[in-house]
Amino acid sequence: YLDIGNVLNTSPGITEQTLDRLDDRVAIAHDRIEEGREAEEHGYAALNLPQTVDTDEIRSALEPFGTPEAVLTVGIGGSALGAATISDALADQTDVEAHFLDNVDPEDTAALLDSLPLDETVLNVVSRSGTTAETLANFLVVREAMEDAGVDWTEQTFVTTGDEGNLRNLADKHDLPSLRVPDGVPGRFSALSTVGLACGALQGIDIEGVVEGARSEMDKLSGSLEDSPGYAYGAVAYALAERGALTNAMMPYAESLEYFAEWFAQLWAESLGKEGLGQTPARALGATDQHSQLQLYRAGPRDKLVTLVRPREREDIDIPETDLEGLSYLGGAGLGDLLDAEFEATEASLAAEDRPNIRIEVDAVDAHGIGELMYAMEAATVMYGELAGVSTFTQPAVEWGKKAARGLLGGGEFEEADAVADKREFT
Ligand code: PA5
Repeated sequence: YLDIGNVLNTSPGITEQTLDRLDDRVAIAHDRIEEGREAEEHGYAALNLPQTVDTDEIRSALEPFGTPEAVLTVGIGGSALGAATISDALADQTDVEAHFLDNVDPEDTAALLDSLPLDETVLNVVSRSGTTAETLANFLVVREAMEDAGVDWTEQTFVTTGDEGNLRNLADKHDLPSLRVPDGVPGRFSALSTVGLACGALQGIDIEGVVEGARSEMDKLSGSLEDSPGYAYGAVAYALAERGALTNAMMPYAESLEYFAEWFAQLWAESLGKEGLGQTPARALGATDQHSQLQLYRAGPRDKLVTLVRPREREDIDIPETDLEGLSYLGGAGLGDLLDAEFEATEASLAAEDRPNIRIEVDAVDAHGIGELMYAMEAATVMYGELAGVSTFTQPAVEWGKKAARGLLGGGEFEEADAVADKREFT
């Protein structure tokens, strides 16, 4: 469910005439996207995942591991955030803890390794390229920690990677159970593939439901923004960015969607930040950030779109009745009722100042709901990219940084590393 009423005639904002014109452009972009999907072109192929991913294949590849106590996913960017979003959203479905090692902060890694039952943990290593320094370094560190703890890491390691690269070589050498990253699916669009679903499957999460939710959203893709919430969101965000809304604050009202905001930020920034264009994603969390960032959103520069996301249903906790003076209004309501009131208060407070905001709702944060939401945001990103005319599925700036870091560590001759020596200093 998408409500764009609060972007009409706001500042910045769009008019109903703009929406009509956008609708014509969406129809053209939709044709291009359909062409790409049919030909399974790089990137566009990701929008087919709800019908091409094989969840039985994922489950049977993971059979040797049974039900572990914990899953430690080692991967970064698109090789971690999709899985983290699904695990976080559906944590109530499982007792198997999911941990993610993406960064290479030694103190954090040491603390995590100390806290894990390594003999009962499945190490889930994910890298599309199979060459990413952070992921391989973390893998080597965890492997050594397992060996030191007397654990046979080859019995507890699962790999998802491409057909080539260091990680594929390692999986072949040790005959590790593994899955392939599908062709044509860029890292940040891989949440609904082997990359994003293996962790949930190891946890016993309903990954089939996630795919079904995504499929229901895929079936809505059409040449009119009225039929497709994903396209409508992407098109409206694009039109607002053109009018100066250069920041998009993604603000879910559910702790279980905190990772979703992080995943969205990667998808949006890495796909659309090209050629001087794009919209900077900001991460916020309702109601917590009503007590901090909302001040800026309502009264700061008129350069923002605020996206408010919530489930329509959630399990609630009653707030106890009280005779404490002034607090009786809370008694009898639920914490969820309070959170909903906060949501509506934020929406109204922005609208009252003509600040553009969009409401996105799912029925619940369940498997279906998170699948719908993630697919809709992927479709939105692709639509925005088509309208802006950028190459949504490449990430040259990210690759630049990867090469520079490798070059600095002596991992090859990369001209990007030389640029580090030319850094401008003024101290
Ligand atoms: O979206 C992307 O392409 C990136 O964020 C990658 O997912 C990230 O850099 C990790 O790459 P890899 O999966 O090759 O290790």
